[in-house]
Amino acid sequence: MSDRMAKLIFWVGTLSSLALFLALTFDTHRNFDALTHADRIDERVVAGKRAFERHNCNDCHTILGFGGYYAPDLTRVYTRVGDETIRSRIERPEVVLAASYRKMPQQHVPPAEIVAMIAFFRWTSEIENGDWPPHDSEVRWKSSTRRLLAGAVMSPGAALVNQENCLACHALGDAGERTGPRLEYIGARRSPQYVAEYLADPQRFTPGTSMPGYGQLPEPQRRALAEFVATLASSRRETP
Ligand code: HEC
Ligand code: HEC
Repeated sequence: MSDRMAKLIFWVGTLSSLALFLALTFDTHRNFDALTHADRIDERVVAGKRAFERHNCNDCHTILGFGGYYAPDLTRVYTRVGDETIRSRIERPEVVLAASYRKMPQQHVPPAEIVAMIAFFRWTSEIENGDWPPHDSEVRWKSSTRRLLAGAVMSPGAALVNQENCLACHALGDAGERTGPRLEYIGARRSPQYVAEYLADPQRFTPGTSMPGYGQLPEPQRRALAEFVATLASSRRETP
């Protein structure tokens, strides 16, 4: 190869990569407001971000990859656990996370700041970032649950979820509310035995929770519910 040719390849390669890089950077910035839903950033979201910073929550937690890698990522914490679970974690970590081997400190965060932080987490959970992080992908949860429910003749556990109105507070597939954790997320971490015990007496695990106890249900029904919730985890592991 001649000297001239080598220089040409160098300059054409460098300049075209640079042009592509600048064009993509420009394009990203142009879409920034739409991807981040800038129109949903209200005073509460801003106050929540400030409170999050003031209490140094990101010494332990990450959001969008920034922060300490000690505690769970909070980018989509709202999607996976909902309002009340976030509140109880911030309000009484020493009680509700007592059984955890990792500890979160009691920081006496004022109630107004907790409300603001929930609004902030709700906003971060809706940022369009290519469905990241993948283990909190609602798209995957929804599609695997849809398949699970379509594939099986309505299982006794699934029927009980309807009958007992769990979806008034929990999300499952395309349905439900976000007061408590998504049922698929619970299933990914909890055994049927834990779920059955939790159902019998939620106050023992999370004192003050609004989740009603199902101690009055016959034991086999509680077990069927628990097994259904725990099987949601295995359906998640398949590719969407
Ligand atoms: C010293 C480290 C530390 C600090 C500081 C900290 N946390 Fe945590 N946090 C943890 C750990 C550890 C867990 C998870 C415990 C477990 O489930 O194993 C956790 C759990 C949580 C959860 C529940 C996450 C989930 O997916 O269940 C939320 C929400 C949360 N923290 C919010 C906050 C907020 C808001 C702050 C700041 C006010 C904060 N944390 C400060 C360590 C910390
Ligand atoms: C009135 C609202 C409400 C109803 C109805 C409800 N839950 Fe809950 N549930 C919650 C809340 C809130 C939490 C989170 C408590 C916390 O950790 O702060 C929770 C927590 C749980 C947990 C524990 C999650 C964990 O990882 O520790 C399980 C399991 C559960 N619910 C299953 C169910 C099932 C099954 C039903 C229906 C039979 C149901 N829930 C009905 C609100 C509700």
